[in-house]
This record gives sequence, C-alpha cells and structure tokens, in this order.
Amino acid sequence: MSLTSKKAYSALQKHFSETVSLHMRDLFKADTNRFNKFSLKLDDFLLDYSKNRIVDNTLPLLINLANECNLKKMINAMFSGRCINFTENRPVLHVALRNRSNTPIYVDGTNIMPQVNHVLEKMHFFTDQVRSGSWKGATGKKITDIVNIGIGGSDLGPFMATEALKKYTTNQLNFHFISNIDGSDIFEKLKNCSPETTLFLIASKTFTTQETMVNAQTARDWLINALGSKAVPYHFVALSTNKDEVKKFGINPKNMFEFWNFIGGRYSMWSAVGLSIMLAVGYDAFISMLEGAHEMDTHFKNAPFDKNMPVILGLLGIWYHVFYQAETYAVLPYDAYLHRLPAYLQQLDMESNGKRNIKDGSVSSYPTGPILFGEPGTNGQHSFYQLIHQGTHLIPCDFIIPIHSLNPIGNHQDILLANALAQPEALMRGKTVKELKKEGVPKKLIPFKTFPGNHPTNSILMTKLTPKNLGRLIALYEHKVFVMGVLLNIDSFDQWGVELGKVLAKQILSQLHDTENATTHDCSTNALINYVKEFRK
Ligand code: F6P
Repeated sequence: MSLTSKKAYSALQKHFSETVSLHMRDLFKADTNRFNKFSLKLDDFLLDYSKNRIVDNTLPLLINLANECNLKKMINAMFSGRCINFTENRPVLHVALRNRSNTPIYVDGTNIMPQVNHVLEKMHFFTDQVRSGSWKGATGKKITDIVNIGIGGSDLGPFMATEALKKYTTNQLNFHFISNIDGSDIFEKLKNCSPETTLFLIASKTFTTQETMVNAQTARDWLINALGSKAVPYHFVALSTNKDEVKKFGINPKNMFEFWNFIGGRYSMWSAVGLSIMLAVGYDAFISMLEGAHEMDTHFKNAPFDKNMPVILGLLGIWYHVFYQAETYAVLPYDAYLHRLPAYLQQLDMESNGKRNIKDGSVSSYPTGPILFGEPGTNGQHSFYQLIHQGTHLIPCDFIIPIHSLNPIGNHQDILLANALAQPEALMRGKTVKELKKEGVPKKLIPFKTFPGNHPTNSILMTKLTPKNLGRLIALYEHKVFVMGVLLNIDSFDQWGVELGKVLAKQILSQLHDTENATTHDCSTNALINYVKEFRK
C-alpha cells in the first residue's frame, strides 16, 4: 500500500495545512523549552532538531505513519538478514561489518560473523605490513603511495573517510583515488608516483565496472612497463566479491580482500573496500570508526522512535520532501576535513532513494528521494547560501559542527563556530520589516534586505571529528536514508537507473570507431557522435 493511502498520511496532511503558516520565530518565543524537547544526545554527539517547522504533535503523527509503514519490522528485517533488497533478492547487511558485539547474524542459515572477522584480520595483517614497511615492492623498496582505483561506492566512501581522518594518518604513505575513466585522472594521479613504491588497490564489488577495469589495466601496464610482469603481485591487491574476475585480471586470490553480495556498493566502506582507510589510519582507528557506527546501529535498532536520531531525521525528511514538497536538502559540514562528505552522501541518498517506482511496481504518486548538495562552511556561505536565505525554494539544511578543531590555530575555530551557529539562527529567525525600519534602512531597500526566515535546519554537534564520530555520523545518514526508503515504500538498495546509460555508452563506443556515420540514434545523438568523429579524424 502506498504512502498516501495510509490513515496517518491523511492526518498529517491536515496537520500540515494547520501548521504551514506558523513561523519558527513565534514557536521559539512561545516555548523556551523547545531545545530540550527537540534535541537528543548520544554520548558527546548531539542532534538539535528544534529549528524545524514542527509543533508538539508533529513527531507523534509522523511516528504513526512510520508505524503504519511497519518501520520497526523493516529495521528488524534488515538487522536479521532478511532479503529486503527484493529486486535483487539480497539481504542488506552493512551493519554486520561493524557488529562489534559479534552476535551471530545468519544468511542462508550460516553465521556470517566469522567470515566478516576473518577479512578484518586479514586487512589488519596486511595493513601492519605495509605501514611498517615490511611489505616491499618488487625491487625491495617500501611502499610510499597507495592508489585506490574504484568508482561509486568503491571510491566515494574510502576517499571521503581518508580525507576526513587525515589528521589520524600517522604514517608516511600518500593516498590517491582514481575513479574517473578520463585519462587525465589517472595521468595526474600517477605522474608523481614511482612504480617501485606504489601499491594499487583495485576496488570493485563486481570487478566488471568499465571505468575501474580500464583504469586498473592502464595502471598494470604502467607498472609492467617499468618493472615487468613479475612485479604485479607485489603492487596489486583486489577488494571484491568476484574471485573469478580477480583471477582473470591476474591478481592472486591470496591478495584479494573479500566482501559479499549482501553488502551494497554504497554501503561498503566498512568492508574490504575500506582497506585504504585502514592503511591511512591504522587498524585501531578503523575499529574505532566501526565502533562508532555500531553504536549508532544499536541506538537505531533499540531506541524508541521519539528518541531515535536516524528515525527523527528520516521522518523530518518525509515531512519536508513529501508534505512541503521541498525537493532538495543541503549538508553543510563546518570542518574542512569533511569536504568530501556531500559527494559521498549524494550517492548514499540519491542512488538509494532516487526511484520513481514503489514496491508494487507502480509509479509513485508522491515525491521520493530528495536532491542533496553541500559544501564545507564557510565556503558555502559565500556561494549558495544567498538562495537558501532569500530564494524561492525551501531547502532544509543539516549543519555538522565539530566543536574542537584538529588544528587549533589562532582564533580560526572561534570564527568558524560562530558562523556555524549563526547560520541556523539566521535561517530560522530571518529579518523582519519592523526590524529593518528600526535600523533606519531606506524604505526602497526594505524588500531586498528582508529575510523571511522559517528555514528548517538540524544541527549535529560533536566534540571533535574522531574516527568514532565519523562512524556515528555516516551510520546516522545510512539509517536516515533507510527510514525514508521504508516510508516511501521503495527498494533503497538496488540501482537499476544506472544501467541504461552504460548500455548506450557501449553502443556509442563501437560507433566511434566505425567508418560509417552513426544513424541508429535520434538525430541529435547521431549528429553529436558524427561531430565528434569528424574532429577526431
Ligand atoms: O553506479 C552504479 C554502481 O553499481 C554503484 O552502485 C557502485 O558503487 C559502483 O557502480 C561501482 O561498482 P563496483 O564496485 O562493482 O565497481
């Protein structure tokens, strides 16, 4: 049954029309306890959701909707390994990768925890060897450069996390991430690497993704040109589910770090795909990241919905994207180390919930997954915040605010924090005509200097960006996206929408080499192909 046919949906629609004209400025004035009511803490990790367009009975009504959509049952189904990715008939078990309590989780009657722990230990052993210098390249030199070749989930998570945790990288290794098929990507990344001291991690769940395999082949040629084919085992490892393809590529399965089909690509940074993260920060910090995620998992699984951070964020997502029909939201990390977070979350959210078909196959009559964008503060402030403050769209924003800087220099952090705290206030309060008049602003400028306010924000604070807090943060968003997917009644774990472009690209690739002009596409695509061919002559 679709979302809009639920009883709680109608109640929420009524509630929406009754509350849509309320202004948060007035709600805060009327209730000085609003922060206490609408905030939650998990250790030092704080979620303030009081600056949302909600009143006392909004969340209970949203929780009714969650109950009607069997959210609790779906959470239990995910944690217990049921095939909730029903279009691919797969369980969804990234939570098993950080199941630090080690309680058994069964897939087809087998407890998967021993294999999860085995790979983790294999990664540990390998990481220690590389970091200590005992893993040597083919000519006996220590590894200095790690190059992760992968795309989508095999790139975004590891890249985001190694950047986020750069400060915890205590060794002398340099990290590079090659994802794009564009030759300039690999050229620029390899130009300062030496074949003798470079280790390639070929990260691909399927080991068939065109971009990754072509980049991996080019890297292999680069190495063989310099050191010969005997060097390959010293310089290539695979992170994959596909042993046969790994072997075919020429990587010894001994140098393969396995994961499984019950781990989705965009949920794989906790698996062998996270080897670059472990190489960067070491085993202990990697485990700490898993522990943070596990803590969030346990909270998500056990906390009542009205005290449950991912559930609350997910329900607020539904509130804005379905009822207010806000199409976008922004994630704004006030920490430069989190500069890849929005890119990572774009795949997590948009590849998971960017779907028009609900579970019975029909086309959804309501908006599904939102569009996500973001930029670290304060850069975003000098770019697109203008539109958030005074534009015509409603753009809910998440502010992510570590309190301590990992690099306390002068008064930088004070200024950063002041901005991070001021923006949600400004977005909520706005600036009224009355205030402007009182300031003596000339009449003709008043419309332009007025800020409507009433823009919803969440503020997520942590003492500082640690591996544990990063784990908590990422798991928080993973589960938020899951909650929204359940209520939207879609399969958040497949991604059929990426297929068509791949098929057409294959056709066009062969046509680029034909002597004949392309004629099989629409006239625009034919003309573009032929234009390219003309100028490639
Ligand atoms: O973009 C589609 C996709 O399948 C993603 O879901 C995945 O993260 C990415 O391609 C890479 O896939 P693989 O890890 O199999 O190379």
